Amino acid sequence: MSRILITSALPYINGIKHLGNLAGSMLPADVYARFKRGQGHEVLYICATDEHGTPAELAAAAAGQDVRTYCDEQHEIQKRAGEAFGLSYDWFGRSSNAPNRRLTQHFAHVLEANGFIEERVDRMIYSIDDARFLPDRYVEGTCPHCGYRPARGDQCDNCGRLLDPTDLIEPYSAVSGSTKLEVRDTRHLYLLQTRLEDRIRAWIESRSDWQTLARSIALKHLDEGLIDRGITRDLSWGVPVVGPDGGPRPGMEGKVFYVWFDAPIEYIGATEEWAEASGRTWRDWWRLDEGADDVRYVQFMGKDNVAFHTVSFPATILGSGEPWKTVDTLKAFNWLNWYGGKFSTSQKRGVFMDQALELLPADYWRWHLTAYGPEGSDAAFTWEQFQATTNKDLADVLGNFVNRIVKFAESKFDGVVPDGGEPGPLEGKLKADVRAGIAEATEAFEAMEFRKACQAIRAIWVLGNEYLQEAAPWTAFKTDIERSAVGVRTGLNLVALFARIAAPVMPFTAERIATTVGETDLSWPSANAPLLDRMPVGRTVSAPEVLFRKIEDAQVAEWSERFGGADA
Ligand code: 2FM
Ligand code: ZN
Repeated sequence: MSRILITSALPYINGIKHLGNLAGSMLPADVYARFKRGQGHEVLYICATDEHGTPAELAAAAAGQDVRTYCDEQHEIQKRAGEAFGLSYDWFGRSSNAPNRRLTQHFAHVLEANGFIEERVDRMIYSIDDARFLPDRYVEGTCPHCGYRPARGDQCDNCGRLLDPTDLIEPYSAVSGSTKLEVRDTRHLYLLQTRLEDRIRAWIESRSDWQTLARSIALKHLDEGLIDRGITRDLSWGVPVVGPDGGPRPGMEGKVFYVWFDAPIEYIGATEEWAEASGRTWRDWWRLDEGADDVRYVQFMGKDNVAFHTVSFPATILGSGEPWKTVDTLKAFNWLNWYGGKFSTSQKRGVFMDQALELLPADYWRWHLTAYGPEGSDAAFTWEQFQATTNKDLADVLGNFVNRIVKFAESKFDGVVPDGGEPGPLEGKLKADVRAGIAEATEAFEAMEFRKACQAIRAIWVLGNEYLQEAAPWTAFKTDIERSAVGVRTGLNLVALFARIAAPVMPFTAERIATTVGETDLSWPSANAPLLDRMPVGRTVSAPEVLFRKIEDAQVAEWSERFGGADA
């Protein structure tokens, strides 16, 4: 048994996440956590809301709430949505909580003591009416290159040129529309990443376990050359910049750390929150000098987050010179698109987590987003594909199998696992094929190849259907009841097995299927253990309510209308 620490990228607080966010970090992390727990390992799966930054402030203002109240509410909403989707976090924390504040301030102090932080003076746009400095993208105006308005202060959406907000013609505040802007000096802390470049490169090269997508993104950033990075902002909401004694730091009053500086530290902070809440210890998960050397740490995230996790956060950790645990395996995902384009709330394209559950139970989505997710490349969600795969994989292949065999046992064998008969060559072949399938699924999960694992799982369900087709206990029942009993017994054992192999991806369904045959063991099966003759003879079984309903064309039409479809 090993100890495995799993984190998925922390969702921003501003609004409930769409299916693309779910498919690219939280869901695969959950599937992996469930798989590893199912094998008997000690898993700690940590996530949290990422609560700081200008977007959080602005979203709160738009909702007419103070930012703390807004974050309190949104955190609960995201937490509930995660639970409803079966995301089995051991802890879902908040980056605005005290442990993260303490840790963030601690890291800044040690980095400074080690000579990796210095104060610099920036010239930034100050909005007099908003009484605040404006981050680049909250200054808008006319693009000096193409004349497009409104171009953002960091980049023009029309011609794509990178801009400095002072380049904009007739600039105004995107927060209030005010044109009363001026350039002011402001003092900030800079993390001297240029001084850490060699260390980061050596560390990346020592990570043999990373996947190609993560490694290539990390090396690309290093090859382009790191720059020193401002890690503080003129905002009121965030982790305050303080002096080494925790008191005010002259010249830094009213400043907070940049959200991307404190957010990854919350992986540690949230572990501390978990430990406080559960009476456990957190340092043995994170400190190499306090027991974390045997922990395997796996991170899940979308590809846009990779640079922050392979360069910026490691700069914080390595620069501290302290023995913190760093990531062992980083699993990055591509984009899930909505048809050919992006998810977009304003343009009514795409489904958000809470809406999805109004349409169908969580497992329908969990299966589709895992089995057809954006793993090796970007993937497109379409209602048509969702309908086709769900109806086939879940209703025809899995649901039908369970229904058919359990119903038959009810009608012809008094609803119990029948005695009599001996397994023959057909069962022998089935057993060998199932073993091979489980070995394949296990290997794919170990490699975090989720699509492949799902294919292997579905192939095992198909084997069951083929077996029943051939063994045909319904036909044998008329001439050879012992033969029929073998078929039914084997089929019921398969039902229990199907529940176990479905459990990491479809935990709710796995429970329901297991219940039909009186099973409670949903651990991940070992290919070598007894599989098809585990169930005690005489045990009562009872057919489930319909496991999966087929998605009808009318539903596809309705949902396309509501959330966007092929014509959107
Ligand atoms: O891209 C995002 O959604 C970020 N909120 C991810 C943060 S991950 C971690 F570093 F906190
Ligand atoms: Zn332009």
